[in-house]
Amino acid sequence: MTNKPSEPINLFDCATTQKVIGQEKFLDSFKAILNHGAYCQGPETRELDEKLASFAGTKYCSTCGSGTDALTLALMAWGVKPGDAVFVSSFTFVASAEAPVLLGATPIFVDSDPNTYNMDIADLKRAIAEVKAAGKLTPKVIIPVDIFGSPCDYDEIMKIAKENNMKVLSDSCQSFGSNYHGKNAGSIADMTATSFYPTKPLGGYGDGGAVFTNSNEENEMVKSCRVHGMSTEDHYDNVSLGMTGRMNSFQGAVLLLKLSVFADELKKRYNVAKRYDNELSSYYGKQKILDNCRSAYALYTVTCADRDELMSYLKSNGIPCGAYYPRPVNTQTAYAKWNTRSLPVCEKLSKTVCSIPMTPYLTDEQMSYIIEKMNEFAASKMNKAA
Ligand SMILES: Cc1ncc(COP(=O)(O)O)c(C=O)c1O
Repeated sequence: MTNKPSEPINLFDCATTQKVIGQEKFLDSFKAILNHGAYCQGPETRELDEKLASFAGTKYCSTCGSGTDALTLALMAWGVKPGDAVFVSSFTFVASAEAPVLLGATPIFVDSDPNTYNMDIADLKRAIAEVKAAGKLTPKVIIPVDIFGSPCDYDEIMKIAKENNMKVLSDSCQSFGSNYHGKNAGSIADMTATSFYPTKPLGGYGDGGAVFTNSNEENEMVKSCRVHGMSTEDHYDNVSLGMTGRMNSFQGAVLLLKLSVFADELKKRYNVAKRYDNELSSYYGKQKILDNCRSAYALYTVTCADRDELMSYLKSNGIPCGAYYPRPVNTQTAYAKWNTRSLPVCEKLSKTVCSIPMTPYLTDEQMSYIIEKMNEFAASKMNKAA
């Protein structure tokens, strides 16, 4: 039996990287910004654009204010508007659907695959066929969400998009650092949006996000929309609608430092996930990662029929956990108008998912303790059933 570890266990860990890098390095970067005075979109964010594009393997990256901004800016760059249908996973954080709605487009919610928890390909095809048959909306964009950091089935999704003359915007807000068939997140879909919210695999110390593309034209549009649709020639002429979507230089500085240890942290997350995969009881459903893919492991999530009981048990033993997400977006009040399709897998997932601690810096002792308590709970349920 493993004793309860002396150090508290965290579900996310936003603090340890700062110790690994050294707080004085952050303070030096902040001082440099105070001295140069370019607080918004300063040299730090420009350097970050280049380094992120290189990490992702894309030609362009434009940092912005948040993952929600990134999704919205990409859709703005494509001119998404009322009358357009945007197909989006419903088992996700609300922002994936909020972005098209903000632009007046209609979200069409798509069910999830019960094994990967990502967008279900058969249901995507059905949803597109339904919209086409109704003849009221123009199918425009698919937003697959790499839930918990795990890449969607992009070969299929890109093929479907091509057949239907649509674009694919990958919501990689949880999956920056993941890999799909040798390509890093950012370089797989037509455009990609990511988030640097503090709990993300590459998290800042505040809000932040980025848009990735290989198209110069799209990138120029994103850069313009992130400053109110400003023209590159005349800064007092706004040529399209946009927003205040810039990244501030302090966030750029934090992310540059954190990017320097990111590859190592991804390896550490992977090692934690492998221990969970190998040692957690088969009582739990485990998220299937597609072949030749690597998750960024933003979260490690199991499914369990007695989810609420499991969560109480873990919490009473000092193990934090969370239900991401207890309500699919289509069932939320603000989205009732678009709750038009039956999504049974999403509904089931929302009642059974439980995310357990996933940080690069979990100790062996902490992992052993978490696994032991999870398996103790599973054994009690399996014994009862026998
Ligand atoms: C899947 C998904 N999409 C979009 C977002 C929005 O990102 P942000 O919080 O940076 O706006 C998040 C962040 O929680 C997310 O997890």
